[in-house]
Amino acid sequence: MNENILNPHYSELPESYLFSTVARKLADYKASHPGAEVIKLGIGDVTTPLVPAVLEAMHKAVDEMGERSTFRGYGPEQGYGFLREAVARGEYAPRKVEISPEEVFISDGSKCDVANFQELFSADARVAVPDPVYPVYLDSNLMAGRRAVLMPARAENGFQPEVPHEKVDVIYLCSPNNPTGTVLTRETLERFVSYALKNGSIILFDAAYSAYIRDEKLVHSIYEIPGAKHCAVEFRSFSKTAGFTGVRCAVTTVPKELEKLRKMWFRRQSTKFNGACYIVQRAAEAVYSEAGWPQIKAVIDGYMANAAMIREGLAQCGYTVYGGEHAPYIWWKLPAGEKSFDFFDRLLNSCEVVGTPGSGFGACGEGYFRLTAFGETAATKRALERIRDRLK
Ligand code: MLT
Repeated sequence: MNENILNPHYSELPESYLFSTVARKLADYKASHPGAEVIKLGIGDVTTPLVPAVLEAMHKAVDEMGERSTFRGYGPEQGYGFLREAVARGEYAPRKVEISPEEVFISDGSKCDVANFQELFSADARVAVPDPVYPVYLDSNLMAGRRAVLMPARAENGFQPEVPHEKVDVIYLCSPNNPTGTVLTRETLERFVSYALKNGSIILFDAAYSAYIRDEKLVHSIYEIPGAKHCAVEFRSFSKTAGFTGVRCAVTTVPKELEKLRKMWFRRQSTKFNGACYIVQRAAEAVYSEAGWPQIKAVIDGYMANAAMIREGLAQCGYTVYGGEHAPYIWWKLPAGEKSFDFFDRLLNSCEVVGTPGSGFGACGEGYFRLTAFGETAATKRALERIRDRLK
C-alpha cells in the first residue's frame, strides 16, 4: 500500500482511543491474574436493565415487524415523526423551550453525531474545546486536520471554562460535564452564548447527562439561554438517560434559526445514514410515556445514590472529590504529584478496581481520576470498602 494516500492526521492522534486503552490495560491485568474479581468503574456504561415500559414498546414493535401490514423498511432519515414529537414534548416543553419536531434529528448515538457534526465546517474553522473533556470532540477534529484551542476547566475556576481570548468558530461544551461531573452555571452559558453571537460562532452543546441534574434551577438545555437558538446545536442521548448504551438512540437538535446548518445536517444524514432502527425508536418514544418517565427517573435515582455513596466514601477516606451531584461521574483529586495513569495501576493492583485516568481527558485532567456511578450498587460499595481498606 502507498502510505502517502492515508490521512496524515491520524498519526497526530493518541495511539488508541482512551477507553480502548483502559480496556486493554484491564485485559492485560486479567490475563496475568486469572480469577481476579475486578470491579469496573471506568467507562460510563450502564448496568441497570431497560425499564418495563421501554421493553413493552420494544416487544410490540418487534411483533409489528413480523406482520406484513405493520412491517417497516427504511424509515425517514431524520427519524420517525412520533419520536421527534415525543422529544419536543418530553425534553423541551417541560423546560419551556419551544423546539419543533422538524428541528429534531434522531440517530443511533450521540458519539457519532458529535463526532460527525464537524464535517459541516470548513477545514480551517477554528475550534475550541474545554480541557478536560470527552475525547471525541478533540479526536474527531484532529482527524479532520483541525487543532483546537483549549479552554481549561480547573477546580480553581469552579470547572467553568473561560470564553476563548481569540476568535474561534466552533465551541464544544458539555454540561453536566464528562469527565468532571460538574455543571456549567447559567452565567457561564450566557457568556458563551453572548461570545458566539458576537463572533458568529457555533456552540456544539453536549447535554447527554442532563437527566442527572437534580436542581431544577440549573440549565438543562442550552436553549434556556436567550439567543442560543441562533448559535447552538444540542446533542441529547438515550444512552445514559434510559440505559440505551447497547440499544443506541440519540437526538441532535438544530434550530430553524440556523436553517443553513439544519439543511446541511439533513443533507449529510440522508447521504450517510439510513435512520435509526424502528424498534429502537419505538422504545425511545416509551421513555416519555406516562409509565416510562417515572421508571426512568427511578433508575437515575439509583445511579445518583451510587454517586453520593462514592462521594461520601472517598471524602471519609480524606480525599477531595468533585462532581457527582448532578452527574453520574465523580472527579477524584489524587494525592499531590501522583499521575493519573500511575494511579490507575496502583488502584488496579491494590484494590482490583478500574476507573478512568483523568489525563486521558486532557492535560488539565492530570492528577485526577474519574469514577462512574453506573456500576451495580453492591459492587460500588465493595469497591469503596477495598479503597478504604487496601489502597496503598
Ligand atoms: C464515558 O465513559 O465517557 C462514556 O461512556 C463514553 C461515551 O458515552 O461514549
